[in-house]
Amino acid sequence: MIYGDGIRFRAIEQTDLAAFVAWLNDPEVREGLQMVLPLSMADEQRWFEEMLKRPGEEHPFLIETQQDNIWIGIGNCAFFNIDWRIRSAEVGIFIGEKRLWGQGLGTKVMRLLIQVGFDTLNLNRIMLDVYETNPRAIRSYEKAGFKHEGRKRQGYYLNGKYIDVLQMSILRSEWEESHA
Ligand SMILES: CC(C)(COP(=O)(O)OP(=O)(O)OC[C@H]1O[C@@H](n2cnc3c(N)ncnc32)[C@H](O)[C@@H]1OP(=O)(O)O)[C@@H](O)C(=O)NCCC(=O)NCCS
Repeated sequence: MIYGDGIRFRAIEQTDLAAFVAWLNDPEVREGLQMVLPLSMADEQRWFEEMLKRPGEEHPFLIETQQDNIWIGIGNCAFFNIDWRIRSAEVGIFIGEKRLWGQGLGTKVMRLLIQVGFDTLNLNRIMLDVYETNPRAIRSYEKAGFKHEGRKRQGYYLNGKYIDVLQMSILRSEWEESHA
């Protein structure tokens, strides 16, 4: 387990997959992700098996938060495309329990993920892509310390329109400075 402020990360188990299918079939959750088609249990099972073949550092975490003293799963977050020479990685996050959006959890999760990236994996740069149509995510990344660094113009197609994809990143030096 990796513990943060009212949240924790644990490995994803087979028994979590049904929750993922429910969350990821919700159009509102999916709209911020690179997913456009309905997801079946078989798709999810295949994803799980392929995921286990990837390096351990790229296995997504199940995000849990405490409710009435019980830890419940609410989504996942992960590192991917880790480059060990450049010491950079991309991150992704989703909270599938929509009723918990807008309460600061996404920001806490991202802060903990950044801490794992710099303090445990010894990365130097953490980056992400986010759709311009996702102000909630953009705001939570800004609060966690990410800076805007670029824009892929018309980089994604969503709901009948091309939209821009914003590129954001945080450097280890910036993170250390904010914790000094
Ligand atoms: C993105 C996500 C992880 C953010 O988690 P969260 O718990 O809702 O985020 P937080 O509560 O920490 O922060 C959200 C911020 O956005 C703000 N916000 C919400 N809607 C907004 C809007 N329409 N315009 C501007 N800001 C908005 C909130 O007020 C809050 O900022 P504040 O604390 O300054 O008031 C979560 O919403 C999610 O999983 N969404 C679905 C999947 C997804 O889009 N993932 C990201 C892919 S890049």
